[in-house]
Amino acid sequence: MTSINYERPEQEASVLVDDHAELNKLIVQLLVRLDEGDKARAFERLDLLWARLAVHIRAEHLWLFPSILSAPRAKFTARSGGPGYQEAQSAINHLRLDHDFFMHELGAAITTIRPHANVTDHEATSKQLRYVQNSVVKIQSRLEQHNQLEENHVYEWVNVLLGEAERLALTARIRHELAKLPPRFKV
Ligand SMILES: [Fe+2]
Ligand SMILES: [Fe+2]
Repeated sequence: MTSINYERPEQEASVLVDDHAELNKLIVQLLVRLDEGDKARAFERLDLLWARLAVHIRAEHLWLFPSILSAPRAKFTARSGGPGYQEAQSAINHLRLDHDFFMHELGAAITTIRPHANVTDHEATSKQLRYVQNSVVKIQSRLEQHNQLEENHVYEWVNVLLGEAERLALTARIRHELAKLPPRFKV
């Protein structure tokens, strides 16, 4: 008699959704440190946020988006409950623009705060910290909408467009990509 495994296989969506939750936590911690004027610890969180968001975005660019766009055209029908092909393409284009915005803003924030991270010039640095704070608040707000589009639509499409074996392979690739943090963040 064969035993039945009642455990649901891990899904690519849950891996990325969990990562969104962790990125959100990081942003909240970063904003607290910026609010406290704790430059060194704010910089440390900012640097980690940049690295974590970079691998998340890379996983979506390298594996998630191509998997969706290369699914058989016949699957892109309203009958399947998935998106039309144009709809998928335009949602992904929108997400890519958001990604460019996040990485550009974070890069500028890092460049702004890095020279001041360990310096005790309060007046000069409070101006830099305010700039970074504004930038992080903009990222937080756009990321919230971005993640909703992904979690409520794009991640769900994978379940309609791909077969089980392809979904499992995609999950493994995404996990692998998310683990590729620069060595300085490895514990
Ligand atoms: Fe994304
Ligand atoms: Fe995402």
